[in-house]
Amino acid sequence: MEENIGSQTKVVGILTSGGDCPGLNAAIRAVGKSLSEHDVELVGILDGFTGLIEHRVVHLGFQELSGLLTLGGTILGTSRNKPHKMPQQDGSYIDMTDQAVENYHRLGLDCLVCLGGGGTQKNAFRLMSQGGINVVTLPKTIDNDIWGTDLSFGYDTAMTIACEAIDRLHSTASSHHRIMLIDVMGHNTGWLALGAGLAGGADVILIPEIPYKLDSIYSTLRKRKEQGKRFSIVVVAEGAISQKEAEHAQNIRDGLQTPCFNFFPHQIPRSEFLANLIEEEIGLETRVTTLGHLQRGGIPSPTDRVLATRLGVAAAEHIIKNDYGKMMALKGPDIIGIPLSEVAGEKKFVTPDHSLVNTARSLSISLGE
Ligand code: F6P
Repeated sequence: MEENIGSQTKVVGILTSGGDCPGLNAAIRAVGKSLSEHDVELVGILDGFTGLIEHRVVHLGFQELSGLLTLGGTILGTSRNKPHKMPQQDGSYIDMTDQAVENYHRLGLDCLVCLGGGGTQKNAFRLMSQGGINVVTLPKTIDNDIWGTDLSFGYDTAMTIACEAIDRLHSTASSHHRIMLIDVMGHNTGWLALGAGLAGGADVILIPEIPYKLDSIYSTLRKRKEQGKRFSIVVVAEGAISQKEAEHAQNIRDGLQTPCFNFFPHQIPRSEFLANLIEEEIGLETRVTTLGHLQRGGIPSPTDRVLATRLGVAAAEHIIKNDYGKMMALKGPDIIGIPLSEVAGEKKFVTPDHSLVNTARSLSISLGE
């Protein structure tokens, strides 16, 4: 692509960074369509910040922006690379912030729109403060852990997929009188497990923010068995940890203990380990289903399409007004711009008294407390 092309008033670059998620293409479409109303040219940067550093770009015009609303993944490709820590072939990392900034100017960009999760917000803020470039960001992640926004797009679709999986696993659980353990993503937060677990009628939901006690899980499952319920559904967030592990981690942080690598038998995945313990203790066959990347793929839900579109349009509006350095966020009924300086480095965890947590407690769903 030629550099500094176009007779338009502004040239804007857009990239997607971090794990893919449903709604990215809907957001790209919304930014592009909205900007085109103002005669602004949109340049797609490939594979996240890597494409900016390597100067790999595509034109995003009317044709390219067609048919994107329902498309999963990201047409731009993505990577988890950070400009200040680019991996080299020999395994080392180098700071390529200057290269990224140089290419921003070489492309004649007036603003860089970054679609990503918490890490991307941090990287965009770093580029803006160190490189002096204009950025606007959008919050995407199935984990829903981005600070400052009520919801990030991708979450609703992932929760829907996980819930549907739980619904289907209910059939086998009840027919075979089994305990089904469903391992869901969410990194080190429990939004996805909590949402899908509540929606899917789970009996136990384990999340990283509330370290679990095995005895508490056993007592819930035993009680169900005694009540004549011959199956149970256990939803485990990938980042869930036991109270013992949490204490151990705290002791290490406090310098009271040294890391003990065989504390948890990492040879087998946590869910399998838990399932074995549960089966032995409760006496019901226990099986594990790990949903993994299924939760990130495919078409976005209508809710995510609408959210991604609203956030994309808001990003375009901010660019037209030269209102940079902000992440577009859902706050109650509104989409607002939040200063990136407030978002960068923060994370939205499930609080122990969050209404979703209290709702689960009120239904006697065990959180392993
Ligand atoms: O952040 C989204 C997410 O899917 C997390 O839930 C998960 O921990 C991680 O990405 C997996 O990353 P990768 O696809 O790089 O294995």
